[in-house]
Amino acid sequence: MSATDTSAAPPVPATPDDVPGWFFRVDREVFGWLLTRQSAAGVTGDLLELGAYLGRSAILLGDHLRPGETFTVCDLFDADAPDGENSAEMTMSYRATLTRRAFETNYLAFHAELPVIVQDPTSVLADGRIPADSCRFVHIDASHLYEHVVGDIQVARDALAGNGVVALDDYRAPHTPGVSAAVWEAVFTLGLKPVLLTPEKFYGTWGDPDAVRADLLARDWRGEGFRLDEEHLAGQTCHRLAWDGPSERGGGPAATSAPARRSLARRLALGVLPPIAARAVRRLRRERA
Ligand SMILES: C[S@@+](CC[C@H](N)C(=O)[O-])C[C@H]1O[C@@H](n2cnc3c(N)ncnc32)[C@H](O)[C@@H]1O
Repeated sequence: MSATDTSAAPPVPATPDDVPGWFFRVDREVFGWLLTRQSAAGVTGDLLELGAYLGRSAILLGDHLRPGETFTVCDLFDADAPDGENSAEMTMSYRATLTRRAFETNYLAFHAELPVIVQDPTSVLADGRIPADSCRFVHIDASHLYEHVVGDIQVARDALAGNGVVALDDYRAPHTPGVSAAVWEAVFTLGLKPVLLTPEKFYGTWGDPDAVRADLLARDWRGEGFRLDEEHLAGQTCHRLAWDGPSERGGGPAATSAPARRSLARRLALGVLPPIAARAVRRLRRERA
């Protein structure tokens, strides 16, 4: 908190689910699973998150930090964006709610110490402050602009060691074509190997994708009610994983946005939702009413 910050103290969350954000069930499970497998196998390395917002995903990453490892978070929080487009993105999506103080309050509700915080555009990380080959997991979830994501992927590539994993958010959202372009460009020109695709995130490695896949498939996802499919693309194998239950997007700002609600209502009216989803939507509506 800055010495001049006299605003009211942000509310303290009781559970990580109380923290607003865009981090949903399937990805929470994948992060937790891969990080736990790494630790169990004796793989050590730092954790890095580009784009933390109010800390929803950072809090979970912090759960997996082991002694001797460093967790670095880079976000603009309430600082100025580096260019007009990024500034517009910040105003539209984050400015109303986001402060560094709120992030810190949320994080400290679940952890004794803050991560290393870089309150700057993610482009500053290109200066080598994240040592090469130091990380086991990097989460990229900051700017959605192509040029920025290209830089973020480069940072992850330099930072990741061995079979380290990069998770890239919004690689296929309708409003983020720049992320899609940067992600698939990295696959086809920078040797990034896809391992897992969820509705929200792309998981890949510059290490051995078979080893990461083996970790991933050591869990009975289908038995737990997830949908798991094998996918072959451009000579590479990866998997798609989804949770289709009604609570998948619960808790985040995106889950309660008006366009999302309108789109669900429309699909319900048109009768194009699968029966199980339609029943769940009707039940939720009854509960809300
Ligand atoms: C989608 S939110 C992150 C969500 C968070 N990971 C979660 O799971 O709840 C994107 C974040 O990226 C930050 N951001 C946007 N452009 C950035 C940039 N150029 N450099 C650093 N952070 C940026 C925003 O401030 C915002 O907090």
